[in-house]
Amino acid sequence: MIGAGAAPGLERNCIDEIIVGRFACREFSSVAVARRTVEQILDVARFAPSGANIQPWHVYALAGAAKDEVSASLLRAHEDARNEHTSEYKYYARDLPDPYLDRRQEFGRLFYGSLGIAQTDAEARSRQTAKNYAFFGAPVGLIVTIDRRLEVGSWLDLGMFIQNVMLAAAGRGLQSCPQETFAKYHKVLRSLLSIPAEQMVVCGISIGHAKDPTTGRLMPRADAEAFASFKGFEN
Ligand SMILES: Cc1cc2nc3c(=O)[nH]c(=O)nc-3n(C[C@H](O)[C@H](O)[C@H](O)COP(=O)(O)O)c2cc1C
Repeated sequence: MIGAGAAPGLERNCIDEIIVGRFACREFSSVAVARRTVEQILDVARFAPSGANIQPWHVYALAGAAKDEVSASLLRAHEDARNEHTSEYKYYARDLPDPYLDRRQEFGRLFYGSLGIAQTDAEARSRQTAKNYAFFGAPVGLIVTIDRRLEVGSWLDLGMFIQNVMLAAAGRGLQSCPQETFAKYHKVLRSLLSIPAEQMVVCGISIGHAKDPTTGRLMPRADAEAFASFKGFEN
């Protein structure tokens, strides 16, 4: 495993630094982000590639009272009726094989450990989950949807778009957090945002300034040797 440092002998350019500098930020300052900035981020993100250029993304950009209304409704649903809501798609395999199970367990240890929450403390974990719905205090929240008639290939395209959003934000000194947990409350979001029936809620993305600018990525990565094999290259 490596942290954010470059592997020995591999130098990084400014795009590399933006990719590596992005992390899932879960504590934002309340400093506003202008609508113009969000427009610029989306204007750049739309250059994501997509099969046959079908561009299968749709975004609801929220700030101010509109974001607060969404947060309040989702927090209420999380508080009162969390077992009545479920995502329209499955994010995780039910039985994760290794090495994914191992990594998820490591995530749990690092994540809850960093918050001082015991993994057995369901109440504290639920309070942490609730922070998702307040967009972790970020001034901007995006809700990302996709047309349910599209196939899995279009979800690949959407992932590239979402990454572009986060990198375009990082290039402007902003941080972000992609959040699949919004998909669970698609019914609440559908009615609040008038999301058409054919659109499926995929995730949210919080965007803003990190509350503590010295925070960075907590999660390690397996190094390239663990997932890539090279053939045919000269040494
Ligand atoms: C599609 C997607 C959905 C995610 N959903 C959530 C979420 O609902 N809540 C959350 O706190 N983090 C969420 N994350 C953040 C991941 O936990 C995070 O990306 C991962 O642990 C790696 O950490 P890093 O992004 O800081 O490198 C999500 C990430 C992705 C890519």
